[in-house]
Amino acid sequence: MNFSMLVIKTKNELLGELKKIDGTLDLGLVPTMGALHEGHKSLIKKAISENKKVVVSIFVNPTQFNNQEDLAKYPKTIDSDIHLISSISEDIIIFAPTVSEIYPEKVTPKIYDFSGLDKVMEGEFRDDHFNGVGTIVEELFKVIKPKRAYFGEKDFQQLRIIQKLTEIQKLPVEIVGCEIVREKNGLAMSSRNERLSDKVRLKAAFIIETLKTAKDKFGMENALCIKNWVKYKFENSEEFQLEYFEIADIETLTPIKSKNNNVKYRAFIAVYAEGVRLIDNIALN
Ligand code: PAJ
Repeated sequence: MNFSMLVIKTKNELLGELKKIDGTLDLGLVPTMGALHEGHKSLIKKAISENKKVVVSIFVNPTQFNNQEDLAKYPKTIDSDIHLISSISEDIIIFAPTVSEIYPEKVTPKIYDFSGLDKVMEGEFRDDHFNGVGTIVEELFKVIKPKRAYFGEKDFQQLRIIQKLTEIQKLPVEIVGCEIVREKNGLAMSSRNERLSDKVRLKAAFIIETLKTAKDKFGMENALCIKNWVKYKFENSEEFQLEYFEIADIETLTPIKSKNNNVKYRAFIAVYAEGVRLIDNIALN
């Protein structure tokens, strides 16, 4: 563990520390749940390059888990997280609060109206997931008051919902989207990849390869044909089970009906491999 890193556990301490810094300073925030990897690292590096000071929060937020077992199983690797952050810069403030610091009364999410962005794909079967994400991110924005906050396109739906959150709650923060960081074979980086066997982790290139072919097909075929083709590919796969494949408007996240040349689309996918749930997405046009 690196003892020169500033690791703050309470909001009061954090406010005290932020007060010491010039108030007009550019402040960047990178919210995380820890178990940090190269994907998180790229967000932190981008935040450092664009701000004078950076806060990285590490908090496994209970209100965004709809399954207690999932929450209990979430990896907690604070020492190696601090190490990874210090390898980027020792000038970063780490905010790692306890659950009671963030939720002093009830551990429940606020309810937001995200105009339906939360009802599809990742939100369809996970009641309150995005309400939980909104609750913690709004709290972090209100306490830290960053000028910019960084979110990965790996969780593109989450990124869109955070943009919507700043709009509906009138939060003066610029949301910066960051490109997906991938392993050598193209698999999107995730702490869950550690739970795959070496063999399946390598073979998981199948997911991005499928998305890339869907992208090639998007210029020529209609969405239904592409969806059926993806389903067929997965029906013939031993290792990978498809949960959903969707082509959606990047603004509204509504599934495509017929292609509109003025609309930007992305393909979104969720897959199970060896009991591990993996998600990915790709820009189509
Ligand atoms: P977490 O899963 O730790 O992710 C933190 C940030 O890292 C998110 O913005 C996520 O999109 C980004 N990220 C993860 N893997 C990435 C990859 N391979 N490439 C680029 N960015 C990547 O997302 C959360 O935590 C939580 O929901 C949070 C926003 C912190 C609220 O609790």
